[in-house]
Amino acid sequence: MEIDETRLNREIDALATFSDAEAPAVTRVVFSEQDGKARAWLKQRFLEAGLAVREDAVGNTFANWPGSRPDLPAVATGSHVDAIPHAGKYDGVVGVLGGLEAIRALQRSGFKPERSIELIVFTSEEPTRFGLGCLGSRLMSGTLAPSAAAALRDADGDTLETVRQRAGFSGSLESVRVTVGAYSAFVELHIEQGPMLEQEKIPLGLVTHIAAPASFRITVEGEGGHAGGRLMPGRRDALCAAAEIILAVERAALATRAIDTVGTVGICQVHPGAVNSIPSRVQLSVDLRDTDVDRRGQVQRAINAACGDVGERRGVSVTTETINADLPAQSSPEILAALTTACEAEGIGFRQMVSRAYHDSSFMARIAPIAMLFIPCRGGVSHRPDEYSSPEEISRGVRVLARALAFLAGGTENGTEG
Ligand code: GLV
Ligand code: MN
Ligand code: MN
Repeated sequence: MEIDETRLNREIDALATFSDAEAPAVTRVVFSEQDGKARAWLKQRFLEAGLAVREDAVGNTFANWPGSRPDLPAVATGSHVDAIPHAGKYDGVVGVLGGLEAIRALQRSGFKPERSIELIVFTSEEPTRFGLGCLGSRLMSGTLAPSAAAALRDADGDTLETVRQRAGFSGSLESVRVTVGAYSAFVELHIEQGPMLEQEKIPLGLVTHIAAPASFRITVEGEGGHAGGRLMPGRRDALCAAAEIILAVERAALATRAIDTVGTVGICQVHPGAVNSIPSRVQLSVDLRDTDVDRRGQVQRAINAACGDVGERRGVSVTTETINADLPAQSSPEILAALTTACEAEGIGFRQMVSRAYHDSSFMARIAPIAMLFIPCRGGVSHRPDEYSSPEEISRGVRVLARALAFLAGGTENGTEG
């Protein structure tokens, strides 16, 4: 399978210029001006490849290569192009531009698919703007009610409903849902975002499971006051209480002794946030993940118990609001077999692995058989400007993706059955 590595990497660099951060950092928040420019640029690339482009009401974008049997459920690939603040240029992008290059490579090879092959760019895989990730795939799969999605608010208080319409996406959010069976397979190419492949010098990872993510918001309310006038005894400092809770999250995640349990407090908002004012209110965002939902539940219960204890000891109120508590996803044995055959045909080594990051595949799994293909990233680094995968590593992933798509779509190659 011949990949145009030079063009693909030029396109990855070009997409990274649509950013609100200075290079090499990429910040591209959903429905920002830069996100709009990136979308327009991508649509041009899809049209140049002869694909039929359509968008749904939340901005999920579909680029379709019609097969000889468009009546059959299509085979899909894709990922996202939104990027968290100060991210790199590969997360999500490799699955979108790599998916496009896989389609172009198949076109160049003379392959004619039987099932249509569809490239999907999902809206807001990252939770940056609305506090909840995978908005596009959640709506497509019916995991998130359209009314709940519409009511999500960004930091300015604007609802998703308002913001998506402002970005030019109208129509009802109900219409985003896709029926079970609309796709016969969904395969997502992505950087690993962890160190395993690089450490083991294995070029590709075949993802068998995606860990179950949960996130919740903890609000601590204490008593504020003057940092000089108010003496230490009897203070009800919300940030000191929150600090204990943050450490309790770490303790609870470590306590399972399972490598697949992770717990992170990534946001800590302090009110009023003045150097000479005792914090009266703190909001924490907690991210918990595990391949085993029961074990994740144990961790959550341990955190709840710690919140109760801290609240009582320190005389502060602690409330918890669940943002999401999702299920793990499993890959389809048939797609894993197709990926295995493709790796063997290309002579590329691989191992099976678990994804601890969540992906749009987690939600596509509700409506279609899925699997993911991971490529290594330097040092396992992601969500940072120094995120990096080499052109060769990306090409290997795209070659295997292209072969697997061809196999899953069926069709003819140089006049022979594929
Ligand atoms: C996706 O970006 C994740 O946080 O796993
Ligand atoms: Mn990400
Ligand atoms: Mn991603």
